[in-house]
Amino acid sequence: MYRSFVVREPRKGEFVRSIEEKDTWDLPAGELLIRVHYSSLNYKDALSAKGNRGVTRRYPHTPGIDAAGVVEESTVATFHPGDQVVVSGYDLGMNHPGGFAEYVRVPAAWAVRLPEALTLKQSMMLGTAGFTAGRCVEMLVRQGCVPGEGDILVTGATGGVGSTSVAMLAKLGFAVTALTGKNEPAFLLELGAREVLARGKFLRSRKKMLLPERWAGVVDTVGGEYLETAIKETRYDGVVTSCGNAASGDLTLTVYPFIIRGVRLIGIDSARCSLAVRERIWQLLATEYRFSQLDHLASVITLEQLDGAIQRMLAGSLLGRVVVQLI
Ligand SMILES: NC(=O)c1ccc[n+]([C@@H]2O[C@H](COP(=O)([O-])OP(=O)(O)OC[C@H]3O[C@@H](n4cnc5c(N)ncnc54)[C@H](OP(=O)(O)O)[C@@H]3O)[C@@H](O)[C@H]2O)c1
Repeated sequence: MYRSFVVREPRKGEFVRSIEEKDTWDLPAGELLIRVHYSSLNYKDALSAKGNRGVTRRYPHTPGIDAAGVVEESTVATFHPGDQVVVSGYDLGMNHPGGFAEYVRVPAAWAVRLPEALTLKQSMMLGTAGFTAGRCVEMLVRQGCVPGEGDILVTGATGGVGSTSVAMLAKLGFAVTALTGKNEPAFLLELGAREVLARGKFLRSRKKMLLPERWAGVVDTVGGEYLETAIKETRYDGVVTSCGNAASGDLTLTVYPFIIRGVRLIGIDSARCSLAVRERIWQLLATEYRFSQLDHLASVITLEQLDGAIQRMLAGSLLGRVVVQLI
């Protein structure tokens, strides 16, 4: 028997969350049975936990798009009992029982070997949020952003993707401007932000098709009017990565930032990217992109404390990352 955080829908549209005892026999088929040591809280988990059908179609369900642990059973030659692995993305925690439980059973193709330089706990301090930040940062670099040659804007800066992006970019030597709705400048400056901008003062008149050029690159985690403004302010030949919709999924624009300034808008996904991409990004996270503040960025909670953290995430009041300890 093992413990699992379960979301049930006792009446249509009403969702309740509790910790239940389960049997590993109830887990879906898969080549790896993994004893989860740590998971982490991501925005998608909060949506799944509140009954968002765009994330999770059927309930009862155990969310948790991240899991880091030790293989207990394997039916493939590539993994053996005792191997330390990280599983994130694919359908884990969305429509497949996820990492908010002491066990997961998954296809072997979903698992990445834990990089040597990271512990299981550190891998979940990063989790999907840090992985997504790593993808955004790598994209900016691959598209030609160079430290010392222009400022990088990070939106939703105190969130999971935002805070890890700020720290990674600063580690690489970029001048980072952190956009936030919270009054937490010390948190962002300690992560390496050069400047902190208040969300309330950022938006400009929506009538303008272009705004004065400011950003060589952008990591946007919030979408909507913030992404719209950021694109209009991106300078000639700049790069904008879009990975989130914490504010809105809408985007209203003209083509002028693209055809007059050559701005590139690039979408970032972490759920369906290939194993080769996953292995490459996890290696970067463990080495070149690794930042010294990692061990202080996350708070560690138990399964019992998870519901409260989910509510704070939905209210937009969480700071940094939340790791769920299951051992
Ligand atoms: N594409 C992918 O594969 C992928 C992977 C991971 C996450 N995501 C998406 O990325 C986004 C961020 O995820 P996360 O895990 O970092 O979430 P998070 O920890 O909750 O951070 C989101 C941050 O966005 C800001 N925010 C919240 N509500 C807002 C609003 N109404 N208007 C403007 N800003 C707002 C807040 O930061 P401040 O208070 O500092 O402004 C908040 O901390 C989510 O939309 C998530 O679904 C996508």
